[in-house]
Amino acid sequence: MQLSRRRLLAGSAGTAALSLAGCSADGDSADLAGFVGIALPGITGRWEIEGNHLERLIKDAGMPEPKLEYGEEDVDTQISQIESMIRDGVEFLVIAAIDSSSLGPVLADAKDQGVTIIAYDRLIRDTPDVDYYLSFDNYQVGVLQAEHIIESLDISNETGPFHVELFSGDPEDNNAELFFLGSVDTLERFIYDGKVRIRSGQTEQSTTAIDGWVLENSVDRMEDLLDEFYPEHDLDAVLSPADLFSRAIVEVLVDHGFDPGSDSFPVVTGQDANVESVKDIRDGTGQAQTVFKDTRELAEATMRMLTDLTEGREPEINDRGSYDNGFKFVPAYLLEPVQVDGSNWEQVLVESDYFTMEEIDEAA
Ligand code: BGC
Repeated sequence: MQLSRRRLLAGSAGTAALSLAGCSADGDSADLAGFVGIALPGITGRWEIEGNHLERLIKDAGMPEPKLEYGEEDVDTQISQIESMIRDGVEFLVIAAIDSSSLGPVLADAKDQGVTIIAYDRLIRDTPDVDYYLSFDNYQVGVLQAEHIIESLDISNETGPFHVELFSGDPEDNNAELFFLGSVDTLERFIYDGKVRIRSGQTEQSTTAIDGWVLENSVDRMEDLLDEFYPEHDLDAVLSPADLFSRAIVEVLVDHGFDPGSDSFPVVTGQDANVESVKDIRDGTGQAQTVFKDTRELAEATMRMLTDLTEGREPEINDRGSYDNGFKFVPAYLLEPVQVDGSNWEQVLVESDYFTMEEIDEAA
């Protein structure tokens, strides 16, 4: 298996693709050359749009029809989907893992078949069998969220104290830790000097986590926080790691009597530039910020990597030393996340044709 990978990098495209297909040299192998399996976590939020985009790019490049699966946010489902892709003879696996640390055994099987494994958006941990990582700078996502809170409330100049509560994502998703670290590192000095107060005392990843990125759990936690700690409505900001939670958090705030049109409405952050959140940001009616990760670029970077690999070239890597997955530093290609708020949503999202104004108007 290792031999065929080396041949891919050194040899001619045709030979390499054939050897990598993991098939005996019978008639079907050539048809499978470049066959990609895409395993995404679920259909909520960004993933479905991205799956369709990736599928289209792969087809447009003339590669075989990829196999695209969504894992229903369930680890075992994702593992059996990957097993079935391996049985079908995939040459490449592009995986956004539901549980970053549970794919070791299935990826070992994939490696035995000579499959090249690309961790998509989320690092795959605790296995030597991941070849590349393609994502955004996830630590920076958390930095941008915290910076938005600091700037909106002018925490550097005002005396405060400001009351903030923190949320983090699914601890089994490696990204959740990176987002949280980026945010906490950025807020830390204000927490130490008492300008930022987290009245719940819940400041760890473990106490702020929403398991499985389950929306309802973010609602429950926000309700509990408000009931227990903010009967006086003196909450200034909620650090929400993703739009998925942000709008639900805004709804809970409104239900508890916070006025979304007023200056005292808590600053709620987000990530992913979901269209409904962008509408809120535009209209000033709730969520105030999101982090735009141009998933078109991520899909295109994935496509370039697949093309390079099928044509026997080393793919472009821009980070070799940051993503230690417990076994090795995974060669990564990282894109930059972009801060989006009331001041620049149009420039970043409409002028770049990510959304039309009509799409934002029509968002529910
Ligand atoms: C992704 C985010 C997404 C979250 C929930 C993270 O791994 O990077 O973009 O909002 O998962 O699906």
